[in-house]
Amino acid sequence: MEESRKIRKAIIPVAGLGTRMLPATKAVPKELLPILDKPLIQHIIEEAVSAGIEEIILITRSGKEAIENHLDANFELELLLKKSNKKGIISKFPQRILKDISILSIRQENPLGLGHAIFCAKPALEKGEPFAVFLPDEFLLSLEKEIDFYKMMKNYSLTGNGQILVEKISKKDVSDYGIVDLLDNKLSKGKTKIIKDFVEKPSINSAPSNLRIVGRYILPYEIIDILKGLKPGKNKEIQLTDALKKLLKLRKIKFEAVLSNSRIFDCGSLKGFLGANIASASKDKNMRRYLKEILT
Ligand code: G1P
Repeated sequence: MEESRKIRKAIIPVAGLGTRMLPATKAVPKELLPILDKPLIQHIIEEAVSAGIEEIILITRSGKEAIENHLDANFELELLLKKSNKKGIISKFPQRILKDISILSIRQENPLGLGHAIFCAKPALEKGEPFAVFLPDEFLLSLEKEIDFYKMMKNYSLTGNGQILVEKISKKDVSDYGIVDLLDNKLSKGKTKIIKDFVEKPSINSAPSNLRIVGRYILPYEIIDILKGLKPGKNKEIQLTDALKKLLKLRKIKFEAVLSNSRIFDCGSLKGFLGANIASASKDKNMRRYLKEILT
């Protein structure tokens, strides 16, 4: 990939309260709920790192320190595991897998929306530096060897256009998501198309398409300047989608929609969380047999 167009940093907002998963998330951050034997946040960071990300910027809040603890070393535990001949498991610890990656965290003092969370990352970005955003509720199981985000990195390297991962959804669900408008709203797997407009959580009747924004983005630095002065939009929150719309109107930057080739699970909901676990388990032969056994 072209060195001057390499994306090094990914912002991961983790300040949400996880109210849809209560009571499970009363004391445990939703990002630490496990998909099989690994917390969701570790899967998301491993996804980013496998596509070439070198620095993770967590946007967090008080009460969610356990996320940082999970990503940090635990010297006593490692010593104990080594002494009791169980050191194999240590290789699955995040600080081993992510040993060349830097992870830093920034507090979002007020829950003012996704756009505000992204703006909070400003001190960790170089002026002019493009960056990635990963929304950790969205768990992606790739149907191909090359994951969606890697394709987005490759596209960016070729065109320099912002990259927005999208998925076709049923028209009745459009009001739950950001929706993109393309030239003819036809998009096939693995292909990209220039985005004409963005709209956050439109009504069924006003939605320009049924292509919803999945939580993987490659964004130009200019979005930070736009977010600075942005007024609250849908649900009185500062919306990232509104900033994208505004940037597009300035006609300086182009964005491409990339159609996902993954099974996507919304792990902020019980249904998605269960789905992610069952779909992941069914990829393993022994687990699949066990699932069959308990479900029949
Ligand atoms: C956010 C974005 C929305 C996007 C969604 C993906 O919404 O604002 O555009 O489609 O994430 O998960 P939220 O889920 O925070 O309401």
